[in-house]
Amino acid sequence: MKVKKCVFPVAGLGTRFLPVTKELAKEMLPLVNRPIISYGVEEALSSGCDEIVMITGRAKKSIEDYFDRSFELEELLKSRGKTELYEMMLKISNMADILFIRQREPLGLGHAVLCAEPVCKNEFFGVALPDDVFINKDAPILSQLIKVHEKLGGTVIALEEVAPEKVSRYGIVQTQFSIENGIYKISDMIEKPKNEEAPSNLAIMGRYVLSPSIFPILKEQKAGAGGEIQLTDALKTLADQEPVWGVVYKGRRFDCGTQTGWLSANIQLALNDPELRDVVLEVVKNETE
Ligand code: G1P
Repeated sequence: MKVKKCVFPVAGLGTRFLPVTKELAKEMLPLVNRPIISYGVEEALSSGCDEIVMITGRAKKSIEDYFDRSFELEELLKSRGKTELYEMMLKISNMADILFIRQREPLGLGHAVLCAEPVCKNEFFGVALPDDVFINKDAPILSQLIKVHEKLGGTVIALEEVAPEKVSRYGIVQTQFSIENGIYKISDMIEKPKNEEAPSNLAIMGRYVLSPSIFPILKEQKAGAGGEIQLTDALKTLADQEPVWGVVYKGRRFDCGTQTGWLSANIQLALNDPELRDVVLEVVKNETE
């Protein structure tokens, strides 16, 4: 069965971006002229998922509004002959069927995924953490995972090799064997381990294809690292019951949940844009002269 649904947990508070995130959802911060969330949704759509499920929280209404129609703005743009902008607005609101589910308490990523159970309980589904933005010429990261799922079945998670001093920021996996270059069977995993506890330097990145068998496990899952219900802990249990594969994806990731990652993504996107590239180079040149 095809992976048609993709879940986006978007209830996080964005404290690393305060004060701007006091009023603005962190997923709405701009990457040039599009919000962070738009990149993840476009990736899911181009990976073949056409049903988007967002797990939202308080103060996230701007995400719903962004993907909704805006009749006043559309009329204004149309009446002023700004056809290109008018069409751009229509394209955004027609982009996808999006279902919003409220996560009432911020109990962690595992809990956020559990909130998607009513719509995903009978099928394999994608999960995309929107902070992880992939800017690359390779196939969309989620599609790389779906391809492995279609070939091998089971759950698939995105992996990246990280420097030893960074393992404590991520979920880290233990591999059992490699089935082909960059594709591993996962036997164990641990969320945010200390450097000396980490079973490898292969870190989980924010893309998953999950088995619906994760839901009963999540229901029983006790709080783990940071006092939160962790998806990684539930995946560890799942790996004892069903195959869980890890894929070292091809592409470049920016962690837009941090100021440095967000800024780097903006600079990279501007450098990729023929109209903005010279502006960036000019500023850097003036600064270094
Ligand atoms: C989450 C996951 C973690 C993963 C990371 C990737 O952590 O819990 O396993 O490595 O995303 O970005 P968070 O960044 O929400 O703390």
